[in-house]
Amino acid sequence: MTSSSKPAPPPYFNIDPAKAAARLSDPIDTVRFAKAATFAAKGRDDLAKRGYSPDGRKRLRKFSTWEVCRYLLDIAPAHLRRVLKAHEDLPQGAGEGGSKWFTLEEVLTLRDHFASEGSSAKQYKSWRPEGQPAKVISVANFKGGVGKTSTAAHLAMSAALDGYRVLVIDLDSQGSMTSIMGGQVEDEWQTAFPLLARDYARHVQAENETRAAAGRSALPLDETLTESLEVSPRNLIQSTHWPNIDLIGAQLNLYWAEFQVPVWRMQARSWPLWDALANALQSDKILEDYDIILLDTPPALGYLTINALSAADILLVPLGASFLEFDSTGRFFDMLYSTFASIEEGENRIRRQNDLPEMKFEWDAVRALITRFDAAQQTDLANVIQAYFGDFMTTYRQEMTAMVGQAGEQVNGIYEADYREFNRDTYVRGRETFDRTWAEIKEILLGTWWRDVQMEAQEDGKA
Ligand SMILES: Nc1ncnc2c1ncn2[C@@H]1O[C@H](COP(=O)(O)OP(=O)(O)O)[C@@H](O)[C@H]1O
Ligand SMILES: [Mg+2]
Repeated sequence: MTSSSKPAPPPYFNIDPAKAAARLSDPIDTVRFAKAATFAAKGRDDLAKRGYSPDGRKRLRKFSTWEVCRYLLDIAPAHLRRVLKAHEDLPQGAGEGGSKWFTLEEVLTLRDHFASEGSSAKQYKSWRPEGQPAKVISVANFKGGVGKTSTAAHLAMSAALDGYRVLVIDLDSQGSMTSIMGGQVEDEWQTAFPLLARDYARHVQAENETRAAAGRSALPLDETLTESLEVSPRNLIQSTHWPNIDLIGAQLNLYWAEFQVPVWRMQARSWPLWDALANALQSDKILEDYDIILLDTPPALGYLTINALSAADILLVPLGASFLEFDSTGRFFDMLYSTFASIEEGENRIRRQNDLPEMKFEWDAVRALITRFDAAQQTDLANVIQAYFGDFMTTYRQEMTAMVGQAGEQVNGIYEADYREFNRDTYVRGRETFDRTWAEIKEILLGTWWRDVQMEAQEDGKA
């Protein structure tokens, strides 16, 4: 190398077209995609096997005395040890020496014990009003990669660690949430698809009764629709490696709903397609079996997302603190406005004609949530976004942490990671990011439940 030599030219100079052509493969036909997909599926299975237990199922790790006393129960380690000694029937944890390791089931048993026998000055169990239905939290934004799935998954796990019973519904045909939860989904019949189909089929049945009475011809009920009438959401719900998180999973075929729903709607204009999922949760009493139902949505404002939004009590809209994400989130709100306002308008026109009370969509709370936040680079922009969104935004910004995504296939996010694999400070900080997100959402959750109870009491008083 000579010291006076010019630096090498940039890599895009002097490209030889003939050599470039020689490096190309033949033109690609559609079959080649199938081949790529097959290879990818094989690779995925290989990778997956490395992290899964031999039976291919995910396992949740155990929690140490340190974690139990630091994050899960408000008790000192010495007190926990005394109580365990005095109550041999309680789970004693596994492992030698001072630190014992407990499964989450065991932690939940310990929590029940303390809640019924521990100090009454302390709150061992998270509050939840009796007799109130689960709150539905939807996480949505039509932009991809903004942290919808990560936020929804972490919230589900935080809530589960807090002892809530959680149902996660994956509405994204990419199925990321389903993988995180270790779900197995064969085809669209194991996703939310049949719930939409059943809602339409029931509508057609009701409509056909009216038509028969009026001597009009019936709307068709094809094989898919007839079959869907047999489906219960309970058959779609699978358990996960978390004892108190259940799942309705997704896979690629769920995308079919985006084509099918508008066809059904064309056949029966009176079908309120946006209510299908909410109806399913309600009519099969799913809302009574859980405390929190979390819906993860695809990066689009399609029919599945509209169903998720319409079923939601609480809507979370994650976005990064960047100009592009702010801009597109603004547009997302604009689309939400026009979509739901036009549904209300259309419905109410018909309702007014029939002397029925008007309908209005309503959410308990809506929050934009800054995700992947880098305080060193993005504080100014985040402050601007905060100023414009005002109380539409959470106050806490979910920070960027290497602990998300890094953990890979077996472990997802902070709550599944074993803290011993990290520097303790890194762990504590990384975890705090999601703990604080949960704290803020939990506050909204408890607040809305509380408000519901007060409102019910007021109405009962009037009656
Ligand atoms: N707080 C965070 N810190 C670091 N990486 C994050 C964080 N939240 C999300 N990510 C990463 O950002 C990417 C997109 O997140 P994801 O939740 O899949 O977005 P979406 O569901 O909106 O498409 C993923 O690779 C995820 O691991
Ligand atoms: Mg996602």
